[in-house]
Amino acid sequence: MHRTDEPHDVVHLGLPPEAGLEQSLEWAVAHAALAPSEHNSQPWSFRATLRDGAATVDLLLDESRRLEVVDPDQREAVLACGAALLNLRLALAGAGLGVVVVSCPDPERPELLARLSVGGETVERDVDGPLRLAVPLRGTHRGPFESTDVPSELVAHLVAEAALEGAFVAPAEGAAHAEVVRLTVAAEESLWSDAAYRREAAAWSRANSTGQHDGVPGYASGLGAVRSWLQPTLAVATGRPAWSLEEMLEAGYHAPVLLVIGSPDDSRPAVLRAGQAMQRLLLRARAERLAASYLNGSLHMPELRKDLGALVQVPAPQVVVRLGYGELVRPTPRRGVAELLVVEREHSDRRPG
Ligand SMILES: Cc1cc2nc3c(=O)[nH]c(=O)nc-3n(C[C@H](O)[C@H](O)[C@H](O)COP(=O)(O)O)c2cc1C
Repeated sequence: MHRTDEPHDVVHLGLPPEAGLEQSLEWAVAHAALAPSEHNSQPWSFRATLRDGAATVDLLLDESRRLEVVDPDQREAVLACGAALLNLRLALAGAGLGVVVVSCPDPERPELLARLSVGGETVERDVDGPLRLAVPLRGTHRGPFESTDVPSELVAHLVAEAALEGAFVAPAEGAAHAEVVRLTVAAEESLWSDAAYRREAAAWSRANSTGQHDGVPGYASGLGAVRSWLQPTLAVATGRPAWSLEEMLEAGYHAPVLLVIGSPDDSRPAVLRAGQAMQRLLLRARAERLAASYLNGSLHMPELRKDLGALVQVPAPQVVVRLGYGELVRPTPRRGVAELLVVEREHSDRRPG
């Protein structure tokens, strides 16, 4: 059956001029839904409370989508929520709504990551229109990049752009570049030799013809229909990812740019900021015709993560982004807006007169 709340479709349809607050929130949540997440687990949900023509929107970490093996502390899930938060902010600004974001560390409610006050005075204008337009175009590009070099001024621009969100961004160049790739390959070898890791990855792998709204279809790693269908079984049985480690090494070395994004520590507000920085960088990159994917293996192994941090001088590295020129990739599935957003209405008790 046709889904009217499919996030790519909702974003592409745009907002009619007469759209009210609720429709604008749905459109903004559709943008948030297009954020990247480990295994496309989409660990977010949104709760909006409408009152007197304004809204409060809570960004919640969806604990039920936890990746027990690869992300037991939900560090990557919070990063993904940060990316979703940036998309949400961009879309709300694009809808002409004022937005104030409050980060919410509350030991009683660790799942509440941020609260947005929407519809008041406009503090974030649509100055980032090109980033918002890049939201539905961004996708993880796991294949080789074109051989064209990325101009150093553009790299500096991307680094500065990500730093706007208050994160560390360190380019890994020369010997450091080769060392990051080496750490990644060492980590991937170890991770794929772990049966629990393979089972979890397989559980989120999807055949190309998937009707599911999450997980990673084989086409995202360049697999054809039959291979995409066999891949989960093969991965569990053989202990190999869809691509060979040699291919990965090749691709990593041919990445014109490697950037490590990090934070002062692993507290939720710091990781949420790093996630917004990551997404700002990915969107600016896409707007500049650059494609991106991740070399995150070493971040899943505490010793190697420490080595990576020391190498690029980032206290808590959160994500390693590989960038180069590349074409658009086919979009991956997303959960619908109706599943992600709960809207409540509160009535003002002020009486007229
Ligand atoms: C924090 C984080 C970690 C990720 N780690 C990896 C990874 O190690 N390997 C990989 O191929 N993709 C990785 N991804 C990309 C996701 O698989 C991808 O975002 C998801 O499948 C949705 O696809 P899309 O990015 O094309 O929209 C990661 C994404 C995020 C946000």
